Amino acid sequence: MARIKFEGVGKSYPNGFVALENLNLDIADKEFLVLLGPSGCGKSTTLNMIAGLEDVTEGKLLFGSDVMNTVPPHKRDVAMVFQSYALYPNKTVYENIAFGLRMRKHPKAEIDSRVRDAARRLEIEPLLERRPDQLSGGQRQRVALGRAIVRQPSVFLMDEPLSNLDATLRISMRAEIKQLHQAMQTTFVYVTHDQAEALTLADRIVVMRSGVVQQIGTPDDIYERPRNMFVASFLGNPPINFMDGALAVEGDRVLFKCGQLALTLPPHIAERVASQAGRAVVLGIRAEDVASHSGELNGDSLQGRILSVLPVGSDQFLEVDVEGTRLFFRVGKEGQHQVGGNATLNVNLNRLHLFDKQDSQSLVW
Ligand SMILES: Nc1ncnc2c1ncn2[C@@H]1O[C@H](COP(=O)(O)OP(=O)(O)O)[C@@H](O)[C@H]1O
Ligand SMILES: [Mg+2]
Repeated sequence: MARIKFEGVGKSYPNGFVALENLNLDIADKEFLVLLGPSGCGKSTTLNMIAGLEDVTEGKLLFGSDVMNTVPPHKRDVAMVFQSYALYPNKTVYENIAFGLRMRKHPKAEIDSRVRDAARRLEIEPLLERRPDQLSGGQRQRVALGRAIVRQPSVFLMDEPLSNLDATLRISMRAEIKQLHQAMQTTFVYVTHDQAEALTLADRIVVMRSGVVQQIGTPDDIYERPRNMFVASFLGNPPINFMDGALAVEGDRVLFKCGQLALTLPPHIAERVASQAGRAVVLGIRAEDVASHSGELNGDSLQGRILSVLPVGSDQFLEVDVEGTRLFFRVGKEGQHQVGGNATLNVNLNRLHLFDKQDSQSLVW
């Protein structure tokens, strides 16, 4: 049973620095949970508390119904994979993978079969007699994974395990880690600052900032229904566009207005802000939520001067000045766009986001 629960957990380091505040989180058995946020937001601190490498200074950490606050690391049945791999340089791959089992005095034959099983799964069998300095980065990462797998823990903890790999390898290893999770049928808690990695791997994502949880939800929740501007801007590439403006009500329509621009807000937003004409708001438009448009400007289009055009394979990125704000969009190749010319873009109104100008919280979710 590998359900992990944080109840009002806080962490202050001995120097007084508060790295984590009032964390409440219930990680289900066999869940793939990703902790996501910028460097320094408290991800590793949280993971290290699960591992027992850092003590909990406030609140309770539970595994199932057992309070773990003071249980030493070797009694927690967790295995951790670090960004740095942390392999023993003078031991062979075989000995690196076997080490944890030897320390726990498993019988030799069992160690051998577990090491060979893990090596087969990770396709590193031919490398078992090599030392770490005879391996590529990707192979070292597999050895680090192997060392965790053979322990057959009920919880896998991974701290940015792919950060040292090149971009192509990182993407293929993502798929392998996902398969590993399915095969192992155990709880994974995975730390990353890479939003794409989080969106691909997670059952649920915890978005953190400066030691405070911003939002917990499925990748879909977090991407489609961000609770505040930080979450909205942390996920998505290129990042979501923000535009300052004000609400206006015209007949039965609720509009976002900024200079000449007027966009009709969709019913699910309009119903929440219909009584707030004049309120200062921030509109969010994701780069992919517009399309090239050749007709007249109307209520659901925006127009602006093209500042740059960047081809990206099947699509192109347009940088457009709309009412003095630089916006980035991703559109198809078909539109004829030239720097210095005008772009008229159809907005997918249903996918607009709206935030409060003062506290940057979503006005919709
Ligand atoms: N031993 C420590 N003493 C004091 N502050 C620390 C210590 N370890 C980490 N911190 C601080 O706590 C914050 C969170 O660190 P960390 O959990 O490592 O962030 P992340 O993994 O999200 O990059 C950072 O500001 C970091 O400087
Ligand atoms: Mg970290």
